[in-house]
Amino acid sequence: MNKFELQSKILKLKEEKQAIILAHNYQILAVQEIADFIGDSLQLSQVAADLKQELVVFCGVQFMAETAKLLKPEAKVLLPVLEAGCPMADMITGEQLRSFKALYDNPVVVCYVNSSIEVKAESDICCTSGNALKVINSIPADKNILFVPDRNLGSYAAQQTGRKIVLWQGYCNVHERISAADVRAVKEKYPGYKLIVHPECRPDVIALADFAASTKGMIDYVADHDNVIVGTETGLYDQLQARYPEKNLAPISESNICINMKKTRLEDVLRSLEREEFEITIATEIAARALSSVEKMLRIK
Ligand code: 13P
Ligand code: SF4
Repeated sequence: MNKFELQSKILKLKEEKQAIILAHNYQILAVQEIADFIGDSLQLSQVAADLKQELVVFCGVQFMAETAKLLKPEAKVLLPVLEAGCPMADMITGEQLRSFKALYDNPVVVCYVNSSIEVKAESDICCTSGNALKVINSIPADKNILFVPDRNLGSYAAQQTGRKIVLWQGYCNVHERISAADVRAVKEKYPGYKLIVHPECRPDVIALADFAASTKGMIDYVADHDNVIVGTETGLYDQLQARYPEKNLAPISESNICINMKKTRLEDVLRSLEREEFEITIATEIAARALSSVEKMLRIK
């Protein structure tokens, strides 16, 4: 089957089953094209919380589908490729977080949404790259703040809010491998361009940027600007190029690819809808505590 045949089969089956397809901004374009909603982690969790559909196909990575299931437990949430994980989310376990917390006096633990359900359950409040600063600002000034697992987003939040934050040393391998030297080279290649980056980038890279934001924040920036270097995973650049063919956009690097985000192909989405696989389940013992940290985050406006 070619791309269009696959897409029309998916859309027909989706209609028949009254399902909804959610996709993250880093998904391949062919998958973004058949999605009912495309967004960043914060938007996807807000959409999940308000869903009417009982069948959800989540084109993204495990922690995103798990967050949707947490927020909408009565829905059947499907992840088309079970092995689509996030290596950063695996950089801290619930057990490691318990030992980390024990080193501090009554700390407030903030977990990036790129984390396991167990880590969310051990945390006080969750955050995404779209609301990390608001979440940190909501914490009383006398509290010790621990941030897991992303040291780069945590350090960006500390710098922007002026709060002292103890960081777990996790990172996203896709963003971590962008160096300041790469940035200087790309800026030389595109003189006069603005540089926008994701806060999962290293602090020395963020320091060279004109703007740092979640993938949605980056989309909003490009809506209002031209001549922009897009400093994140290539899926976002592909989406922006398709959306704004008249704009001068450049990727920070063409090889900045998250292999996990690229595992979901149209064939997988179709099979997932046909067989209703792979269904996300969450251990009931920890669901309530994990949900509480995600709901606390969603209440922060
Ligand atoms: P956003 O929430 O900004 O889309 O980021 C998710 C992610 O995994 C970035 O690597
Ligand atoms: Fe995880 Fe990085 Fe991929 Fe985002 S880009 S899903 S943080 S590995």
